[in-house]
Amino acid sequence: MSRFIINGGNRVYGETRIQGSKNSVLPILAATVLVKGETVISNCPDISDVNATIKVLRYLGCKVTFENHTVTVDSTDMDKYDIPDDLMREMRSSVIFLGGIIGRMGKARLSTPGGCEIGLRPIDLHLDAIQRFGVNIKEEFAKIEFESVKPLEGTNISLSFPSVGATENIILTACLAKGTTIITNAAREPEITDLADFLNRCGARISGSGEGTIVIEGVENLHSVHHKVIPDRIAASTYMAAAAMTQGKIRLNSVIPAHIAPVIPVFEEAGCDISIEADSVTLTAPPRLKSIKTIRTMPYPGFPTDMQAPVMAMTTVCRGTSVIIETIFESRYKHVSELLRFGAKIRVDGRMSVIEGVDKLTGASVISSDLRGGAALVLAGIAAQGITTVDDIKFIERGYESMENVLGSLGCDIKKEEREITDEYGDDQGAKSSSA
Ligand code: EPZ
Repeated sequence: MSRFIINGGNRVYGETRIQGSKNSVLPILAATVLVKGETVISNCPDISDVNATIKVLRYLGCKVTFENHTVTVDSTDMDKYDIPDDLMREMRSSVIFLGGIIGRMGKARLSTPGGCEIGLRPIDLHLDAIQRFGVNIKEEFAKIEFESVKPLEGTNISLSFPSVGATENIILTACLAKGTTIITNAAREPEITDLADFLNRCGARISGSGEGTIVIEGVENLHSVHHKVIPDRIAASTYMAAAAMTQGKIRLNSVIPAHIAPVIPVFEEAGCDISIEADSVTLTAPPRLKSIKTIRTMPYPGFPTDMQAPVMAMTTVCRGTSVIIETIFESRYKHVSELLRFGAKIRVDGRMSVIEGVDKLTGASVISSDLRGGAALVLAGIAAQGITTVDDIKFIERGYESMENVLGSLGCDIKKEEREITDEYGDDQGAKSSSA
């Protein structure tokens, strides 16, 4: 188990290039199974979720290489249609393979993806939608079997919630189906548009991505392309929060400013100065942040739920009281109990959290329990006075490429330490169990 050791109190200062988007590269890699041939995906972040996705592709029979942030997938010899339980457990968002596997193989089998640290993560919207293509679905013994007894046929689907994953799975199922599919109340996240752009360059016919209604006209087959993944808007926003809460100044290069538009008003309300150029954004923090009246997480283009935890960390040192309402996930406040260890003052009541800003945080020993919550703990650590240790950083490494190197290059004193699993009294787990 590895951890970060942080000596806090330094200003975040300088410029950094933002990694490729985790939430864009995962569905695009899943979509490569629809292309009988080789596809080249560049600007892929070197994160554990990408490596987990590559494991699934290789299990399915694809040949995959990953070097210099470029993944090359040759799915010509793909010969499986199931995702084994251990791979589903390693990354529950492997459910995003569903539409591609059904589109390519006409059938699919996967274990019911469990919940995770931020919520139950049901997939009812995925299943209801896929059934409308004429796919039979059978659920038993924690396995879900999908089979289309005849060629997939386009259909009309109105989502009760603009689910990102469900929208992506519908697009993947519809690409090679016969006829037209119309999705209403589709998710509008930039990652949906990046997926549609990739597929259209492979020969698909998808229009309306980024809008509430997406139209997919099925085609016979898709061909190889080289695609560059968009920058990660959540990673960009996370590092902006790091500069904001350390009286710093940061210039983010290779970002798409429009994608981070939903978070800019929050940083401006806190007193930060933001300047925008074609593919870069610069944030200059004030000597003391002002509190944020209310942040309500919403589907894009609203404030992103993935920035709730990092921005909560920022509000812990604002002057005044801030309110955050998490409307997307039902239990996305696991980071609060750990933030309290820094001396933060936070109260949670259901979906609402009230953060009373303090003058200073003090270093603490904390444990990360999910990706964005873990990032919030690192932000608190770099702002706090004294030493912070953040354990279980495997969650953070799912989505942020070498966060310690990025923050280190911006003036932070942060080191990664590989750790044996021992208890604080020096016994290792094995010794403890044998002495028991
Ligand atoms: C994607 O998850 C992202 N993950 C999440 O990012 C992000 O938080 C989320 O979209 C919302 O923006 C990836 O893209 C890999 P949803 P997804 O389906 O697709 C409910 C991160 O930190 N729902 O839009 O799973 C669901 O429970 C991760 O990078 C159903 O009820 O999100 C949630 O309350 C975390 N039934 C809400 O909808 C369904 O069938 C939003 O889920 C599907 C979803």
